[in-house]
Amino acid sequence: MTIVLTGASSGIGEEAAKQLAARGARLCLVARREQELERVQDDIHRKGGQAWIYPTDLTNADSITTSLDAILHEHPRVDALVNNAAHSIRRPILEALDRIHDYERTMQLNYIGAVRMTMGLIPRFLEQGRGQVVNASTLSAQVPIPLFSAYLASKAALDSYSRSLNAELGHKGIQATMVYFPMVRTPMSNRTEIYKHMRMMSVEDAAGWIIKALRDRPARVGKPLGTLGSLVLAAAPGPAVKLTQPFFRRMDKNLKAKLKKK
Ligand SMILES: NC(=O)c1ccc[n+]([C@@H]2O[C@H](COP(=O)([O-])OP(=O)(O)OC[C@H]3O[C@@H](n4cnc5c(N)ncnc54)[C@H](OP(=O)(O)O)[C@@H]3O)[C@@H](O)[C@H]2O)c1
Repeated sequence: MTIVLTGASSGIGEEAAKQLAARGARLCLVARREQELERVQDDIHRKGGQAWIYPTDLTNADSITTSLDAILHEHPRVDALVNNAAHSIRRPILEALDRIHDYERTMQLNYIGAVRMTMGLIPRFLEQGRGQVVNASTLSAQVPIPLFSAYLASKAALDSYSRSLNAELGHKGIQATMVYFPMVRTPMSNRTEIYKHMRMMSVEDAAGWIIKALRDRPARVGKPLGTLGSLVLAAAPGPAVKLTQPFFRRMDKNLKAKLKKK
């Protein structure tokens, strides 16, 4: 199985690349930092696995085209794309009133970058009569969590695109899977200081969710809490937001207090 995996230089993507290679998959590793990609590739090669690197800036159309051309040229079959690269921003809406670039940057990478990669591989998937797109998302896209408006909007767009893919191309063997991770201990979550002492999923377990998505090809991988959150949000969006906000405020307060203590 040949898998194109974005965001392979760090966190969940790096661990997923290693676990998938250990199971015999051929990995095309995509991210900006070439040295970090080489480090992951070396590790995979040392353990007998197969990996190729494609340094790419997913916010740049030309860079994506160059990498996609190389991937399609060098790999006669591509079975799956994992759109895992992303940038997260935690900022109140009121502190982002003069920061439209927060919204532009997250959309450019988390949504447009993922869609460009998908569009580039769809023709190959159609030729093969089979292909899969796994999109990394967050549990926070299923529950009304505050402070992540730019990030969550980009993940919601990806969600909608995935549903359309399944509706339009499912019968041609193309399957899209959304993976709704809870908080995972990675460089991304470590950037937010108040999350320092929060209990989080390990990268090993998170990578396991990507493997499950690739193996079982479901429309969604996530926690039952996320499914419940989506149901409540769909049925009663007003009350759902009102009722959950005191909980999130208390959670932030507790995390800040913990941070001060330690
Ligand atoms: N960590 C969490 O708590 C958490 C929770 C829910 C969902 N998620 C989702 O899980 C996925 C992986 O997150 P993570 O925590 O593993 O993040 P991470 O450790 O920060 O890794 C992000 C990856 O994205 C790549 N990337 C960033 N900007 C890029 C660009 N312009 N072009 C190409 N690649 C770029 C980075 O590589 P370079 O810097 O080398 O380009 C890196 O490999 C994301 O989709 C995230 O939204 C994470």
